[in-house]
Amino acid sequence: MVVKAELHCHIEGAASPALVEAQAEKYGADVSAIIEGDSYVWSDFTSFLHAYDLASRLFRDEDDYALLAETYLADLASQDAIYSEFFISTDHAIAAGLTPEAYISGLAEGMRRAREATGIESRMIATGLRHEGPEGVERAARSIAANPHPLITGFGMAGDERMHRPADFAKAFEIARDAGLAITVHAGELSGAESVRGALDHLKPARIGHGVRAIEDPALVERLASDGVVLEVCPGSNISLGVFPSYAAHPFPKLRDAGVRVTLSSDDPPFFHTSLAQEYETARTWFGMDDEALMETTRTSIEAAFVDAQTRARLLSRLG
Ligand code: HPA
Ligand code: ZN
Repeated sequence: MVVKAELHCHIEGAASPALVEAQAEKYGADVSAIIEGDSYVWSDFTSFLHAYDLASRLFRDEDDYALLAETYLADLASQDAIYSEFFISTDHAIAAGLTPEAYISGLAEGMRRAREATGIESRMIATGLRHEGPEGVERAARSIAANPHPLITGFGMAGDERMHRPADFAKAFEIARDAGLAITVHAGELSGAESVRGALDHLKPARIGHGVRAIEDPALVERLASDGVVLEVCPGSNISLGVFPSYAAHPFPKLRDAGVRVTLSSDDPPFFHTSLAQEYETARTWFGMDDEALMETTRTSIEAAFVDAQTRARLLSRLG
């Protein structure tokens, strides 16, 4: 059995079409614009974000979020995952009419239930949305600094990477760092190596979400390897969004061979018709990884997890 861990999944993006349809029924809403059969309907990054935003509007109270976190984590545990770190977004909560407190407490309740039922450990990473601009991301950072929670251990930035420059967000990340949060940032997905370089220079993350387009610049790949920056790689997401034309063209093996610390995650699994187990299978099929190499990837994820030393040691001991 290959034990797994996930470092990069957006909780709103983990809601299955079936769960969103049940929520739509509960609230008398129509989701036919974003769900057809058992699939989300979108065609590019912008329409993906639109479908994602509309689906998230159907999680409107603490119980809805407890159910979402519990469902996602229990499903992940059934794929032999022992750990998950997922992104949360107070902007999405507020847009759906929740306070950040209710949102966080609902998610924490779902985490507690899943842990009790399956043993899966988890943490939350608060995020700001890049397309909301520097003020929006600063607002998200302040919101989390004002609502600290022991299960929120990181801060990051998601959203449309093609907008704004990393330097514009330095203040937001400073607020998060001062609040004691570990840092990860989406970069090198929709934009190229320069975006990764800018994120490293100005935001000083321990990890990069995606980061895969660093492959466009050999000096940057060397820098990632020598600085030990961990990449949260989501191959299925990259192929779905057209970041690379095929799995054969995906740079995961080249990054790994260059000594970059790469990990595997599912990003927004039902939107991209994937799962964490599917990502591990992809790595086996396309990236030439056997059980031992896959377990090493899980080890890298646990080593890079935003957890206290005692939790990390306990998780590492479960890898055998
Ligand atoms: N990239 C950027 N922002 C996101 C993503 C992603 O893959 N998923 C949800 N928000
Ligand atoms: Zn992501």
